Amino acid sequence: PPVPVAEAIRNATLEEMHDQVLACEACGLCKGRRNAVFGHGGQPTRWLVVGEAPGEQEDRQGQPFVGRSGQLLDAMLSSVSMSRERDVFITNVIKCRPPGNRNPKPEEIAACSPYLMRQIALLKPERILVLGRFAAQTLLGTDATIGSLRGRIHQLKTDEGLEIPVVVSYHPAYLLRSPSEKARAWQDLRLAVARLG
Ligand code: URA
Repeated sequence: PPVPVAEAIRNATLEEMHDQVLACEACGLCKGRRNAVFGHGGQPTRWLVVGEAPGEQEDRQGQPFVGRSGQLLDAMLSSVSMSRERDVFITNVIKCRPPGNRNPKPEEIAACSPYLMRQIALLKPERILVLGRFAAQTLLGTDATIGSLRGRIHQLKTDEGLEIPVVVSYHPAYLLRSPSEKARAWQDLRLAVARLG
């Protein structure tokens, strides 16, 4: 039942939430998954990177951004001298793979976003990089496009009173399909590091 689940997420430690995510049945995506993907990274968290949802490789391995999008993400990070081992915690809005990598549905995002909000409350990242429309729209509470959200620093105000700068850019899977947009993504990362360090 939704209310006790939400309560349990709100009170969970990171380790407890990891187990909750692996056992989660809050939406229909649990039926098709091999593995839920909680996220991965060290603490303290300089940057939290938020993607969309696990793809095929992520579903197989239970780890975020380990397929082709992940390789491109690593290249994006290294263009501004960041590395996934040292500088970032990586997770997704949706913790289970949608069938055939279809877009997440609003009810799936609604069911899963309490995990993301609790991850943010616990990790207290200094900055957040959101990749793609679904992550940006979920965290910033807007239906604006990436094109109109990128190029400036947003602020996420959490229920716990944190105010965290948020940078928006294109999703690596989109950049793989539209390589001519890569220059814009690289520009977004340079802006993020120049303004936020
Ligand atoms: N795409 C995402 O948004 N997240 C992943 O973890 C992998 C691909």
